[in-house]
Amino acid sequence: MPSEPRIIIALDFKDEASTLALVDQLEPSLCRLKVGKELFVRCGPALVKKLINKGFDVFLDLKFHDIPNTVAAACHAAADMGVWMVNVHASGGRKMMQFAREAIDKSEHKPLLIGVTILTSLSRQDIAEVGLDIEPADQVLRLARLARDSGLDGVVCSPQEVSVLKQQLGQDFCLVTPGVRPSGSAAGDQQRVMTPSQALQSGSDYLVIGRPITAAPDPVQALKNIIDECQK
Ligand code: C5P
Repeated sequence: MPSEPRIIIALDFKDEASTLALVDQLEPSLCRLKVGKELFVRCGPALVKKLINKGFDVFLDLKFHDIPNTVAAACHAAADMGVWMVNVHASGGRKMMQFAREAIDKSEHKPLLIGVTILTSLSRQDIAEVGLDIEPADQVLRLARLARDSGLDGVVCSPQEVSVLKQQLGQDFCLVTPGVRPSGSAAGDQQRVMTPSQALQSGSDYLVIGRPITAAPDPVQALKNIIDECQK
């Protein structure tokens, strides 16, 4: 594993105390942190700033999807908070993504701007029900291409999609992958999983890992084990 931390720990906690109980055992040289909707709605920008002040890169995973003006303003606000990465739904369209890009480019601090393609929780039937009669993998590629052409820095995708997306969209297009499980750990509700080293070998740039670390009896050891496994 390269020296830059590739693991982003999903802080899927309900409150600040349990979040900090974990974070205070971690080091910014070993991992980055992801704050999603639940933690953000409960603890807000104050906690995000606390994490940044502790030296961590924070991925603000709020998946913005709204009219272009609103998403641009939200991205600007995220940039002002000092986060390292922020995301928007690529299905919000070219104009929405371009507005988000412009808002971030105008900000003093410029987080990576990442698109969400098709949520991995959606099946072929689920997307057909909302009017998309297409294979999810084809729609992922279409939206990832649109995201790249609209100026985004990369997309969130499943580890299985990484090699095709790198091949089609170029090595510099950043791929962030959840659905990662160290060998021997429970898949939980994740459907198509890969081990961290398999995901990195396929070309994933950053691995989002939650429960295999946060629910481990010794989270720091679990993180170190994953880093060791990736270095082999
Ligand atoms: O605990 P686990 O490793 O499954 O956590 C994965 C994290 O990645 C969660 O915060 C989840 O919301 C997020 N995520 C995901 N699948 C996506 C996008 C985000 O699991 N397609």
